[in-house]
Amino acid sequence: MYKKLLRRLADGGELNREEYLLLIRNREGLRAEAGEAACHLRDTHYGRRIFVRGLVEFTNYCRNNCKYCGIRAANSDLSRYRLTGGEIKECCDVGYGLGFRTFVLQGGEDMYYTDDILAGIVRDIKESHPDCAVTLSVGERSREGYRLLREAGADRYLLRHETVNRDHYKSLHPDTMSYDNRMRCLYDLKELGYQVGCGFMVGSPGQTEDDLADELLFIREFKPEMVGIGPFIPHHATPYCNEVSGSAELTLFLLSLIRLTLPDVLLPATTALGTVDTLGRERGIGAGANVLMPNLSPSGVRQKYMLYDNKICTGDEAAACINCLKTRISRTGCEIVTDRGDHNKMMKTEE
Ligand code: 5AD
Ligand code: FES
Repeated sequence: MYKKLLRRLADGGELNREEYLLLIRNREGLRAEAGEAACHLRDTHYGRRIFVRGLVEFTNYCRNNCKYCGIRAANSDLSRYRLTGGEIKECCDVGYGLGFRTFVLQGGEDMYYTDDILAGIVRDIKESHPDCAVTLSVGERSREGYRLLREAGADRYLLRHETVNRDHYKSLHPDTMSYDNRMRCLYDLKELGYQVGCGFMVGSPGQTEDDLADELLFIREFKPEMVGIGPFIPHHATPYCNEVSGSAELTLFLLSLIRLTLPDVLLPATTALGTVDTLGRERGIGAGANVLMPNLSPSGVRQKYMLYDNKICTGDEAAACINCLKTRISRTGCEIVTDRGDHNKMMKTEE
């Protein structure tokens, strides 16, 4: 009976909240089938091609105090760093040489990088590498700021909404942050023509199965080009230091349901998933994911971008990271490709 629901979803049908909830509650017996259907759907849209995005974690300063995050402002036990525009550019140049055609500039909400400074950095990268996509992941900014950055050449923006449940959002964040502003940002980004990625943590403190069903409904309605999900992992210097990590199994099942809900979505197998399970990223691909985001940050700063404890890949050089991933992915029967890997919808309009 649950398998029938899964089939309906895989065949393009819509599920309601109750039906998503039934799948989530009965995931034990549905894992394999969900993963197979998800991979099949992914392959009809993208082939067995896995896209790579080079991640540059350029600042660990952050003005916020999200209760889950290791780089929150109140963590005084962290050595903070900022990369200069030149250093960021250098990471992208190294990445370009390794074959990367998408760069993701990610950081805490660090207003040292004003909209103008950041726009200059984006412009520089796009000038030297016009064949590359630049993705920003720098949190909440004004609509005008997002507009300037888009004008400077930024193509995509990642901003996880973290939870679709307003009360849950309040419990995970300080009073200075608001659910409404988060959503405002996502809709602004979309209207400004970015390819947008939203997402949430799996197993964050207080999250329920009902919330997860609502996440799937939200994703179906918002239709982001990308969705980033990964297990919550406690960080020792945060209010959630004693909470338990989210489960790899549940994350994998949700990856499959997201793929079945938005067949051509770009869906990363995240570092957090690789942290809770040594084969997490490979299993993520097996569950229907099609993006990997290896680290291009200079090795000297990687240990400082600790959003959660035990994060993997913090010691490797960029080249080592990509080679490791190539070997891992070849075992899944998929292949890493280095083109821009735009969302299908975009490929049609751009070409
Ligand atoms: N565990 C897992 N993911 C986390 N993030 C932040 N802190 C943690 C944590 N402790 C995620 C958030 C954020 C993204 C950059 O990293 O979802 O949006
Ligand atoms: Fe930096 Fe949450 S602590 S955005």
